[in-house]
Amino acid sequence: MKYDVVVVGSINMDVIVDTPAYPAYGDTVFCNSVSMIPGGKGANQAVSVAKLGKKVCLVGAVGNDSSGNELINNLKSKGVDTSHIIQSDKDGTGTFVVIVDSTGENTMLGTKGANDSLSTADIEKVFNEIDAKILLIQMETSQESIIAAMKAAKKRNMYVILDPAPADGIFDEAFKYADLVTPNKQETKRITGIDVTDAASALEAAKKLNELGIPDVIVKMGENGSLVYQNGKATVVDAIKVKAVDTVGAGDCFAGAVANAYLDTKDLVEAVKFASVAAGIKVSRSGGQDSIPTLSEVQEYLVK
Ligand code: RIB
Repeated sequence: MKYDVVVVGSINMDVIVDTPAYPAYGDTVFCNSVSMIPGGKGANQAVSVAKLGKKVCLVGAVGNDSSGNELINNLKSKGVDTSHIIQSDKDGTGTFVVIVDSTGENTMLGTKGANDSLSTADIEKVFNEIDAKILLIQMETSQESIIAAMKAAKKRNMYVILDPAPADGIFDEAFKYADLVTPNKQETKRITGIDVTDAASALEAAKKLNELGIPDVIVKMGENGSLVYQNGKATVVDAIKVKAVDTVGAGDCFAGAVANAYLDTKDLVEAVKFASVAAGIKVSRSGGQDSIPTLSEVQEYLVK
């Protein structure tokens, strides 16, 4: 089967805790609400690609449990091809506790569960059955699945986008097979040791990432926009001005939108302009995958 984008990545149930402020260490406090919604970086990215209008398949693993069933059904309803999602009898569905405070900032704690059971053999089997122009991958499944997918994609001449998230999942070998990396400030610090405080420090970090052998780099600077580094040229793309309500999955929405627009334009700066609008809209409203904008919502913003 042929797709525009294949996403290999995590599929989680998110337990969202909406709180005015973080509790102090050891404290117990009442919060505004606790809700369970579909998440996972891979799933969020696949939904972003689908809502923005491209044909996408998600490769990943959930448990053979009620959360796993619910997450697969949710992905289907959002237009993601789920035929290559494995349901593990051994491991449960990945589950993350996501704390969102009144500034929209989020802090997470999670267990990878079945995401970590994805094997080289699982990946190779799928890649023998599919084709795509772009592989979009993050670092929340097993290390062997990440390397196997990136190698298989390179062999098939796919453009490999590695979103090196979360920082806790980063390992160096993966950088050998990436055409593009899209780290945020925390991930950039983890990889390069550089604190991104402005465009100059983002450029310094981008050059360091480029020296690791990664041709194209996007350093995400949050509300300060993104620095695109390609062929020795740096361009800063501004973020759109919004009141941040919920930042959960904003990076995933951005990654999916970059893949989507890069397919159409073959121009990374144009792709980042499009993705900045998509991520900005996402951040301005609450909710998980439901708050990822559709193609017409992004286009509407762009013609304003
Ligand atoms: O990027 C946000 C996602 O990270 C959440 O949905 C959570 O499940 C973790 O994968």
